[in-house]
Amino acid sequence: MKILITAGPTREAIDPVRYISNRSSGKMGYAIAEAAVAAGHEVILISGPVALSAPEQAHLTQVTTAEEMYAAVANQIGEQVDLAVFCAAVADYRPVEAAEQKIKKSHAEQMTLVLEKTRDILANVRGKMNFPGLLVGFAAETNDLEKHARDKLSKKKCDLIVANLVNDPETGFDVDENELQLFYADGQSEKMPRQTKTLLAEKLIEIFAKLGEARS
Ligand code: CTP
Repeated sequence: MKILITAGPTREAIDPVRYISNRSSGKMGYAIAEAAVAAGHEVILISGPVALSAPEQAHLTQVTTAEEMYAAVANQIGEQVDLAVFCAAVADYRPVEAAEQKIKKSHAEQMTLVLEKTRDILANVRGKMNFPGLLVGFAAETNDLEKHARDKLSKKKCDLIVANLVNDPETGFDVDENELQLFYADGQSEKMPRQTKTLLAEKLIEIFAKLGEARS
């Protein structure tokens, strides 16, 4: 398969020295890219800023902002892509304006930053980008996992949502292990108990490959 993967966080500039971002390390996305390459698939990896090295055989595009990630996905998700996996933790809002010069501290005790919505990449893949292939989204939640994951599954027209609770310090963001729950478009769900992201990634690639076969 030809697989497109988004990974890592995005950064949205406040001024030349500050940005809004999140705690995503990119570990899950990069583990999936590694497992996909190892299983013989062709991999396009579109990544926000992370401290990881990409598998040599992957075609890597590095981006910083949500808008850059949107453009990179729109450019590369052609008809030849069989599977798209959206692991990236994309910023939902960005400062309306990034100051051209460093914002200086003023006498005021509070300051207000006005934010505007970024474009949802995954939610535009089926419609605007006309992607016909297998579509997998991720959902990181602190509560009501199943409800939020199922909402995302239908709103973003995915075949599968891979969900995890991120309030356990030992799994989820920026650690080596994860515990996942899969929600399929046909209503089924499946739990993947706590294990390393490397092992989870290998199993996920097998699951995606089977789904792809069933679909074609
Ligand atoms: N996603 C995306 N582009 C965005 C926001 C999210 O492609 N601008 C993708 C993520 O990569 C993930 C899925 O959508 O695969 C769900 O992301 P998440 O941040 O959990 O969901 P949101 O729709 O942003 O909802 P909320 O933050 O309110 O939970």
